[in-house]
Amino acid sequence: QLILDTLNQLSVIHDTRALVIPGQTGPAASQDAQIAVLGALNSLQSREMISYETHETSSHVLTPEGAQIVLQGSHEARVWAALPIKGEGEPIGVQDLKRKIGDEAAKVGQSRAFKNGWITKEGSGFVKAVPTIQDITQLELREVDSTGTLKAGEKAVAELRKRKLIVQRKGQWFTVHKGPNFSTSIAKPETDLTVDMLTSGSWKSATFKKYNFEADGIPTSGGAFHPLLKVREEIRNIFFEMGFEEMPTNSFVESGFWCFDTLFVPQLHPARELQDTFYLSDPSTSLRPPEDYYKRVATVHEKGGYGSIGYRTPWSDEESHKLLLRTHTTATSGAMLYKLAARCRGETIDEHGNVGDSGGDGFRPAKLFSIDRVFRNETMDATHLAEFHQVEGVVADRNLTLADLIGFMRVFFKKMGVTDLRFKPAYNPYTEPSLEIFAFHPMLQKWVEIGNSGMFRAEMLGPMGLPKDVRVHGWGISLERPTMIRYGINNIRTLVGHKTSIEGVETSPAVMF
Ligand code: PHE
Repeated sequence: QLILDTLNQLSVIHDTRALVIPGQTGPAASQDAQIAVLGALNSLQSREMISYETHETSSHVLTPEGAQIVLQGSHEARVWAALPIKGEGEPIGVQDLKRKIGDEAAKVGQSRAFKNGWITKEGSGFVKAVPTIQDITQLELREVDSTGTLKAGEKAVAELRKRKLIVQRKGQWFTVHKGPNFSTSIAKPETDLTVDMLTSGSWKSATFKKYNFEADGIPTSGGAFHPLLKVREEIRNIFFEMGFEEMPTNSFVESGFWCFDTLFVPQLHPARELQDTFYLSDPSTSLRPPEDYYKRVATVHEKGGYGSIGYRTPWSDEESHKLLLRTHTTATSGAMLYKLAARCRGETIDEHGNVGDSGGDGFRPAKLFSIDRVFRNETMDATHLAEFHQVEGVVADRNLTLADLIGFMRVFFKKMGVTDLRFKPAYNPYTEPSLEIFAFHPMLQKWVEIGNSGMFRAEMLGPMGLPKDVRVHGWGISLERPTMIRYGINNIRTLVGHKTSIEGVETSPAVMF
């Protein structure tokens, strides 16, 4: 406004340093003031209310040392002032001088004072050589401080610069003229042409804000993979690299038969209880599984077989036919192994479980994996949700041993960047031996459980009809745990659910194992 009013009166501002800027404490010529002026000029120029030219200046300002000299006098003057007049007092030695005015001032000041003939040596100390001095350095610095230069000329200025008492500072000032849209009031320019403006005709006299083609656009938002999906992709790639096939795990709802019975989980197992498993109420019962296999499974539970004495408890059809949300993807692994056995016998099984005949092509080793969602009726806390993802692998071949399982695991986890592994004997109804897998967590500096594994039992594989010498090992880990470790997340609710930050999902890097 000041610029517009001044222009209105004078029609041109020759030198913006002459403006009296209200609210600005320093002189208008100061660089800060001119930078503020430049901001205003640019905004007025973009509305074509004014035009301006820039002039460069070069001036000098004091360094901290220079500023100190303006206040206290030059080092040499302070040395002189500290000494007694010749014959009127004890000469002062270098050490005392340093104590009085400081090391730096004493050292530099002493030699300069000598050169100027201000002081002289007497005995082991110094005294004043002249009764009065004129502190030229201080006077010059005062002049630079107020005018930015010296009347004495460039040589004297250069000398102060060399002594690092002043530094050059480039500055700007401006000459301002009226522009085509000159006016003393700044109308806020319109940013949009509206229907109202068109109908009322006000668009004719409106000023519009110019397009700024240099402005950064709003970043476009695209889809982004959730961290769990990124880690899932990495783990999938490890499986593919190791020659695994992906299992179809699209059946979130399973029957008690496939989720538990086929895996030789006793029908009275605590995991089957309502507290641990979500059961369906509508529909509540499953289709019937293949009849022969069903009978063999029921028999091994009740009476045993394949070297086992079984659980010796009555078999419940009802328990077997209950529908539930699968508690582990091992339900699918079991079904896949059953299909593998059926195929090797020459049976085919259609999607309804009907058995046909393909002629039988014998046993083929298999490596299968899946990464999908499972459900458990658990109390939710920082590391547990009622649904999570299980990473599961199954290897079937003749004469596999526990050493194969352990060796395999070391290779697999190494590909995930986990090298320190320990195995602890554990219990699973469907595996014997069973091993819990522990990994050393370098950040937590302790061993954490990362998975569960084992060799599938004869009671599980026998009823399927796999050849006797075929052994199957399997293991399961959660997808959430390595993801949380990878991304340094310590509460699962930050990773999954409504508290997940969308921005975090969009910006989190992909992991690479
Ligand atoms: N199903 C097991 C679990 O839920 C994991 C597992 C899979 C263990 C295969 C052994 C063999 O923890």
